[in-house]
Amino acid sequence: MITTNRTFTMIKPDAVENGYVGPIIEKITAAGFKIVALKMTRISRADARDFYSEHSERSFFGELVEFMTRGPIVVAILQKENAVADFRALIGATDPAEAAEGTIRKTFATSKGENAVHGSDSNENATKEGNFHFSDREKF
Ligand code: PPS
Repeated sequence: MITTNRTFTMIKPDAVENGYVGPIIEKITAAGFKIVALKMTRISRADARDFYSEHSERSFFGELVEFMTRGPIVVAILQKENAVADFRALIGATDPAEAAEGTIRKTFATSKGENAVHGSDSNENATKEGNFHFSDREKF
């Protein structure tokens, strides 16, 4: 079933390495999102290629797979009315140099390739990506 009030996020390896897990979660909850699933994990290269398969023809695909597999990530499902769009607004543009002041990427990301967080781009992908990482008993 596709839900309309939830989104999926990953705190990427750069942000975990830089010690930003706590501050990023703080910003997410302060913006009104409720955490309904949360864990630290890591993904294999095969998982990363699968997760980002829609970008497989892009020039940066190999770099993206290497980056996403170089260390732990934190994954979460977030609940709020209009979750997908509101979360994309909270994280800001893909390139932190273009992200609005106060957004998570503006505050915590270093480059377009290493941009601290992922946010699903549709309700369908939010459901798919959440199910990729969490079993039914891990979602509340
Ligand atoms: S773009 O350039 O605006 O079309 O980018 P976008 O479609 O938002 O990006 C899709 C995901 O690819 C990541 N990305 C990159 N990774 C490495 N190097 C470069 N140059 C690069 N550009 C984009 C970007 O962070 C997106 O990942 P997610 O996890 O979906 O945010």
